[in-house]
Amino acid sequence: MLVSQTEEVTTPPSIDETSISAVPFKLAYRTKWGKMYRGMAEDLWNKKRLWRYKGKVRLILTSPPFPLNRKKRYGNLQGEDYKNWLASFAPLFKELLEPRGSIVMEVGNAWEPGEPVMSPLALESLLEFLKKGDFKLCEQFVCYNKATLPGPTQWVNVERIRVKNAYTHVWWMSPSSHPWASNKRVLTPYSKAMLELLKKRKYNPGERHSEHVIGQESFFKDNKGAIPSNVIEFTNTRSHDMYLDYCRQHHLKVHPARMAMNVATFFVKFLTTPGKIVFDPFAGSNVTGAAAEQLGRHWISTEPREDYIATSRGRFPSRQRHIGSQRE
Ligand SMILES: C[S@@+](CC[C@H](N)C(=O)[O-])C[C@H]1O[C@@H](n2cnc3c(N)ncnc32)[C@H](O)[C@@H]1O
Repeated sequence: MLVSQTEEVTTPPSIDETSISAVPFKLAYRTKWGKMYRGMAEDLWNKKRLWRYKGKVRLILTSPPFPLNRKKRYGNLQGEDYKNWLASFAPLFKELLEPRGSIVMEVGNAWEPGEPVMSPLALESLLEFLKKGDFKLCEQFVCYNKATLPGPTQWVNVERIRVKNAYTHVWWMSPSSHPWASNKRVLTPYSKAMLELLKKRKYNPGERHSEHVIGQESFFKDNKGAIPSNVIEFTNTRSHDMYLDYCRQHHLKVHPARMAMNVATFFVKFLTTPGKIVFDPFAGSNVTGAAAEQLGRHWISTEPREDYIATSRGRFPSRQRHIGSQRE
């Protein structure tokens, strides 16, 4: 989970049982490419109408609510309970996925209460999810937010014994060791040096310290861009995007833990092609749906909180004026 530069890096939303339990499952809105359902991801088991997607989802791209060690404020699931809760979705997600589909899950870091030590729960939960679904870990990514504010305050700003926490874990998993993917769809612009090299066609071939052998002509082929790494830098820092403008105009509180749009776009492009289905079971402000819509992929999202769904409409011009739900 990441937050924009314009907001303080606060605690992400948690599983708040008091506010989101027993939400009736219904369609909140639809767009040209997708449907936003109001409801709990747990209810997917019972929703026959969603079973039409069984085995057809190419990508599940999501950031689940993260457990906070602040029972008083949130009353959220913690420790083993959280781990088991998250893992319980693995078989369901597997049934929804195409055999060579992917799951991309973003989970933030957490700290133990009152101590300058990190909680291993994020990693334990991801591992448990992986095991329960018998998924392959295709690649681990890090989402780096260079603009994040320093925290946790006590250890970083006051005692100065830790450095700022500026990344989230993003795990790419799949039932298959060869999920559909192409890095050709996510090339990044060449560096100035590489552009020069392509132009001048002059460099030192041979063995590098890393033991990579660079051939005589390895760098002469123009592949139209560089292969990206598994560190994705958060670039969602504009304070005046369509979503924020919409929230401001409608006096809506923005979602506090939005995924960066460039992260969602990256995975939708990398792991799907136009017309495929992308699903976000913990959709929040529906960044996943918006990325899929822009790229011509079908999307389905679920989110139990009406206030977050209301803000998510701001991402879709055709839905902006309709506050409240509509018939399917
Ligand atoms: C980290 S946020 C997701 C943010 C989202 N990726 C975005 O970019 O806006 C997690 C979301 O999961 C929702 N949530 C909590 N419990 C849930 C449940 N049982 N089923 C579905 N969603 C849930 C929360 O309301 C919250 O909006």
